[in-house]
Amino acid sequence: MKKRTSFSSSVGFVLAAAGSAVGLGNIWRFPYLAAKDGGGLFLVIYIILALTFGFALLTTEIAIGRKTKQSPLTAYKQVHPKFKWIGVFACIVPMMITPYYCAIGGWVLKYFVTFLTGQGEMAAQDGYFGSFITGTTEPIIYMLIFLLATSFVIYLGVEKGIELVSKILMPILLVLVIIIAVFSLTISHTDETGVVRTGLQGLKVYLIPSLAGKTFKDVIIVVMDAMGQLFYSLSIAMGILIAYGSYVQDDDNLMRSINQIEIFDTFVAFFAGVMIVPAVFVFMGQEGMTASGPGLMFVSMPKVFMEMGKAGAFIGIIFFLMVIVAALTSCISIMEAIVSSFIDQFHISRRKATVTVSGIAIVFGILVCLGYNKLYFEVPLPNGAVGQILDIMDYISNNILMPVVAIGTCILIGWVAKPDYVIDEVTKNGSGFSRKELYRVMIKFIAPVMLAVLLLQAIGII
Ligand code: PHE
Repeated sequence: MKKRTSFSSSVGFVLAAAGSAVGLGNIWRFPYLAAKDGGGLFLVIYIILALTFGFALLTTEIAIGRKTKQSPLTAYKQVHPKFKWIGVFACIVPMMITPYYCAIGGWVLKYFVTFLTGQGEMAAQDGYFGSFITGTTEPIIYMLIFLLATSFVIYLGVEKGIELVSKILMPILLVLVIIIAVFSLTISHTDETGVVRTGLQGLKVYLIPSLAGKTFKDVIIVVMDAMGQLFYSLSIAMGILIAYGSYVQDDDNLMRSINQIEIFDTFVAFFAGVMIVPAVFVFMGQEGMTASGPGLMFVSMPKVFMEMGKAGAFIGIIFFLMVIVAALTSCISIMEAIVSSFIDQFHISRRKATVTVSGIAIVFGILVCLGYNKLYFEVPLPNGAVGQILDIMDYISNNILMPVVAIGTCILIGWVAKPDYVIDEVTKNGSGFSRKELYRVMIKFIAPVMLAVLLLQAIGII
């Protein structure tokens, strides 16, 4: 049998996995949740969950990947034939996410071009975002550029494509995030009523835990928010970590790599908050933080950059460049989850798999873009929002399929294959596994119960 391709080094693996983990979620949701959920309180809960819940799920998926040396679609049946269905789900999830992630990647690209060509002020005007996404051709063109860039990297392969790109882009991303974060702390603004707000005051809003008036129920909401965010942010249940895990060399120290991935992801999420919360606070006050997702990135942020004056035109360019890097490396990972599945399932070449998967993603990507004009409709979602095609795909994958995949994985490893399946894989080359007992308890009992609560909450039952 042909030897499986692999990452050339553990640094390559860590940066590729961190590239996957650091994505839109870190930038447009983490800071918003932290600001909404009482600043430091959210941060503390998030870190505790990352070291327990996140660590257990991350370890499990990466270990399954390395042990089976298979793609998400084919790995689960190798662990146990009765659990083949998880593999199918773990392949459907990335197939649903890739097209709309490319559509959003295209929006980011459009904003980058807008700022680069000195038209940032236009982007800050009311209705700019709406009129862009409801256009017929522009969003499709930008989506295609983003998608083809992703496909190209995948086509180049694991070492010469994914690993190389991650090694170049991830350090750049870190530098850009730090530049913007430091800048955010230096700004101040006096509003019409004469109130002066500074970046450092904004930092306090972000960091100091506010427990005032919080009931027990509020704290539970913070825990649920942190858990949902963590789950998404670590790219769990998307097939990605199994695919990347399958490219990790047998003598790599998995525990060390996993810790580094978590640190990288949390560091960027934290600094995204330092970058965004003070900037929004200075120009819009605490009420400005009510938007998350596209509303924050494509409506509030351009307004903030405009308020910054000349510096804003420049910071806007750096900001959207940084978001492109974050989104691109995530998109590469999610497309690789599908491509690796096609290679292993149908025994076809990487080239053929990349072309096929890209073709499918293009068709669905176009449908997503048309969902804002020709195919516009409004569907009420169980969480109370009204959605278009993009939101429906996002809702089904994130709120239903991903928790199901993760719960299935916990049952498989916790109860059927047993936690030692993972522990043995991690320690087989003499590497340590420091939180072994915690891992057992997490994967058998706590993680599946927490995930079940997350699932019930996501589908509106509790
Ligand atoms: N961790 C990613 C993020 O925060 C989640 C993701 C990965 C989404 C890959 C899509 C593709 O955005």
